[in-house]
Parts: sequence; C-alpha cells; structure tokens
Amino acid sequence: MSETTNTVDPVLQVKDLRLHYFTSKGAVKALDGVSFDLMPGEALGLVGESGCGKTTTGVALLNMPSPPGRIVGGSIIIDGIEIVGMSERDLRRTVRWSKISMVFQGAMNCLTPVYTIRKLMVETWKEHAPDASFNAAAIEERMLKYTRRMGLPDHVLGRYPHELSGGMKQRVVIAMALFLEPRLIIMDEPTTALDVIVQAQILNLIKELKRDLKLSYIFITHDLATEAEVADRIMVMYAGKMAELGMSEQIFATPEAPAAPLATSGSQAGHGSPEPLTSAAGHGSPATKQSRGPLHPYTQKLLASTPLLRKKVSELAFIPGSPPDLIAPPPGCRFAPRCPFARSKCNETEPPVVEIEPRHLVACWKAMEDPAYAVS
Ligand SMILES: Nc1ncnc2c1ncn2[C@@H]1O[C@H](COP(=O)(O)OP(=O)(O)OP(=O)(O)O)[C@@H](O)[C@H]1O
Ligand code: SF4
Ligand SMILES: [Mg+2]
Repeated sequence: MSETTNTVDPVLQVKDLRLHYFTSKGAVKALDGVSFDLMPGEALGLVGESGCGKTTTGVALLNMPSPPGRIVGGSIIIDGIEIVGMSERDLRRTVRWSKISMVFQGAMNCLTPVYTIRKLMVETWKEHAPDASFNAAAIEERMLKYTRRMGLPDHVLGRYPHELSGGMKQRVVIAMALFLEPRLIIMDEPTTALDVIVQAQILNLIKELKRDLKLSYIFITHDLATEAEVADRIMVMYAGKMAELGMSEQIFATPEAPAAPLATSGSQAGHGSPEPLTSAAGHGSPATKQSRGPLHPYTQKLLASTPLLRKKVSELAFIPGSPPDLIAPPPGCRFAPRCPFARSKCNETEPPVVEIEPRHLVACWKAMEDPAYAVS
C-alpha cells in the first residue's frame, strides 16, 4: 500500500513563497511565488539551470536566507507549524535541524577544521536540540547511530575534517543533518563533487533512509540522471519560478515509450527507470498511459541537453541565451526571450500554474493550449 494517502497531512506546505535579495542595484527576485507540498516519505527533486533559485528555495524553507535576502511573502507550514514570521530563537530551538535540516551546497568543504566530528555534532545538538535534558551518553549513542547508518566507522567521531576523504566528509554532513531526527531534509548538490562510485554509494544510502526512516527529502541537483534515480516528483525551476512539477514518470516520459502505470508518491524513487544513471531525459524510462511527458519548453530543452552514455550524438543540444536579470525580469513568461514557441501573449502576461493532468502542474500558455496563445 502507498505510504501516501489522502488522509495523511503533508509534512511541508509552501504557498506563494517569495524571497528577494536586497542589493544596492535593486531587489533580486530569486524566489517569486513558488507553491508546492511534500508528503511524508516523499522525495522531491529540484532542478534547473545555475541561478534559477534552487539553493534560495532550500534556505527559504529553513527561514534562513543569506544576507541581504529576506522572505517577503508567502507561507511555509512544516509539520503543521507556520514558520514564516517565527522568531529566530524559536526557529533555532524548535524547527531547524529538529524538524527540517539541510545539507548545504559545498558543506563538506566548510566543516570547522579545528573541531573533531564529535565536537561538531555536539555543537549542532546544543544549538538546535529541543530536548535539552539529553545527557552526553545519549548524544554519543545518537551520533553513532547516524554515522553508522551512513556507513562510517566509529573512530570517525574522533577525527578532524582534514583527516577524512571527500566521500567520508559528505557522509558526516548527511549524518549531522539526520541526527536530530527531522521529518524533512534538504540536500543541495550532496554528491556533485564526488566520484561516481562514492556518488552511487551515497545515493543508495539516501534511498535506504527514505525507505527505513520514512524520511521526506528535497534533492537539489543539476543532474537529471541522479534525480531520475532518487526523486518521486520533480520540480523544474526557471528564473525564480516553478516552470513544471510532476511525477518523475511524467517528467522523464517519452511519448514513444511503452505505457506503464503511474507510481504513487510513496513509491521507491528510481523504480520505473531501468537504466538510471545512463538514461536521464526519459530515454529508457517508461512513459505512462496517462502522461503527456514533459510539457514546458524549458523542461524539454533541459532534458534534450542531458548527455547520454549509451547514445552518441554529433552535437549536444543547448539552450541559447541565458536566464534573465532577476532585478528586472521580463513582464510575461520569464522564459519567453529564449523560448522558440514564444508568442506575444507570452511576452505580455505571465502564465499561471495549471494542473494539466493529475499531479502534473505547468506554467506555460502553449502547454495549456490556450487559444489566445495560438492566434497572437
Ligand atoms: N546572497 C545573495 N545576494 C544577492 N543575490 C543572490 C544571493 N544569493 C543568491 N543570489 C541570486 O539569487 C539567484 C538564485 O541563486 P541560487 O543560489 O538560489 O541559484 P541556484 O539555482 O542554487 O544556482 P546553482 O545551481 O549555481 O547553485 C541568482 O540570481 C543569484 O545571483
Ligand atoms: S508561456 Fe510561451 S514563452 Fe513561456 S514557455 Fe510557454 S510557450 Fe514558451
Ligand atoms: Mg545552488
């Protein structure tokens, strides 16, 4: 039976979230009206070009924007609690790390060098543990539970970061995100800097955590093949907005591929993707009877730009142009200046997010087959 039913409340509900960076040149609208939710035990993949707002989404969900950023609107409900507007003290004591934690982009290279791993974890505990009554032995037991869970030997706790390999440091960082037992973890490019063998080991551990601990996570990466492996649903971002959100099977489907049933959001990530690390962009991924495949032109272009190991092409596709300046983004669709299908309506009016098929949301006039799009 699916772990996700209609009677279960989402672990995360995000509505119209906006985070702007107030620079001397103007407000960078890095996150501008994004809405989605996440069910217990569900994995959401967040993809998009550099600068599209993936990391900003992650830090916004912790209500921890980096300066000069500020949440300027919207709502974030984690485990039933609204955290927008919450005091810094309450966020530290009752939300961050205990309900939601984050493996920051490049975190394994930022571990305080003069602290042992044990000291680093104890400091995290002191800062964020809601239950201050835990004694040292209980904390040690909890640290061992999660470092072991990440496949690390016990002696790692007494080591300094520089004494560990990149793969070990990354496992430590994930163990640190886990050991206050949050409901939800955001992982920002957690395997990008690692070789493919270590990357595969860590991805397998992440999938085990999801299965065994019913953990929900948001996995941020540029790598669509990795997302096909670890995510139940995929959110494609462009220029601070959601372009498309759908089940992995919908986003990675190809119209010519054989039909297969849609997995539920509680299903294991990567199922239905028989050649995961070589078959992003839906090549080899089964389509569904119901699914129309990726519908936003940006998603289609991203998928077409993904190299495949088993299919040689003379030239890789790419998306001409670059994302817009987020201080003064285009008034209509933000992708219009680069979209081969853009019409005057696209340049004038921002497309709303519409559910085009069950659980498949798209913000594109063409995808919703709006008559005004065709005639203008
Ligand atoms: N501290 C900051 N001050 C000003 N602008 C910022 C700041 N942090 C991010 N931005 C801007 O916000 C936008 C989104 O950045 P973000 O780091 O969220 O992108 P990303 O999708 O995570 O990119 P990448 O894939 O390169 O990590 C970019 O235009 C970026 O320049
Ligand atoms: S709304 Fe128009 S410009 Fe934007 S992605 Fe769709 S077709 Fe392209
Ligand atoms: Mg980033």
